[in-house]
Amino acid sequence: MKRGINDLPCIELRHPSGAQLDIYLHGAHAVSWRSADGRQNLFMSSKTDFKPGIPIRGGIPVVFPQFGDGPLPKHGFARVTGWDLLDTRVHESGYAEARLRLHETSRSLEVWPHKFSMEISFCLKPQALEVALEVTNTGEGDINFNIGLHTYFLVDDIAKVMVSGLAGAKFIDFLDSRQEETERREKITIDRETDRVYPDTPDRVLLRGIAGGRGMAIEKYGMRDIVIWNPWIEKSRRMEDFGDLDYLTMVCVETGNLRGRVTLEPDATHKSSTKFTLV
Ligand code: BG6
Repeated sequence: MKRGINDLPCIELRHPSGAQLDIYLHGAHAVSWRSADGRQNLFMSSKTDFKPGIPIRGGIPVVFPQFGDGPLPKHGFARVTGWDLLDTRVHESGYAEARLRLHETSRSLEVWPHKFSMEISFCLKPQALEVALEVTNTGEGDINFNIGLHTYFLVDDIAKVMVSGLAGAKFIDFLDSRQEETERREKITIDRETDRVYPDTPDRVLLRGIAGGRGMAIEKYGMRDIVIWNPWIEKSRRMEDFGDLDYLTMVCVETGNLRGRVTLEPDATHKSSTKFTLV
């Protein structure tokens, strides 16, 4: 296995088409995705630290078992824990796959006293990436959690970004009163700090304006919610691991059960995934 920044273990998944995906075992965190067109699709902060115990700012952080603030570390411990690599291979049907696993540790049991087994798989195709998550309750009581992908997309210019497919959906603005409102826009643009959760959305949205003027279809399965986040000017300055101008070249379109939680009985498994396809 390759050693990445600060000697952290890193997998380089390669597809014969030239598509490539780099995943750190720290957080099972995809930090770079180049599609077969040679372009980077994921934003990475110019100031992030690659250090055990600290979240990587950019790429695809895994949110589990808590979204946002709460009794656990923000967005949960999965993104700051080392995962185990299960395997990588290129399937005859044409995709490259990497699978990683996480289960409870003595540290996770201190903050979340539950046994679980979690698997993530990354399926890389020339112009698409599918990320699937499976959580099994291996303990004796029910478990209850948030789960999702906090994906940072690289964009040329935030002023040209549009998200469509959410017109008519309800949303809660984390920056406002947290009252439920209705999205009226066919094309959501971002010209200020944005931090909204859209619960129970349609399963497909289209993000326009990613790097190279391309579009990305985002399709989710077993995931109810979408979050759109951009910290804009002031918050970018406040965040230590984010460049002051980084907000101009990124947007997070997060998918998961982020507002709604999942409850699993012992031995039950929850499956969810998101497919990103260049259009
Ligand atoms: C988003 C939240 O999902 O993540 C925001 O809705 C938060 O409120 C953002 O600021 C980044 O979180 P963090 O923990 O990675 O800084």
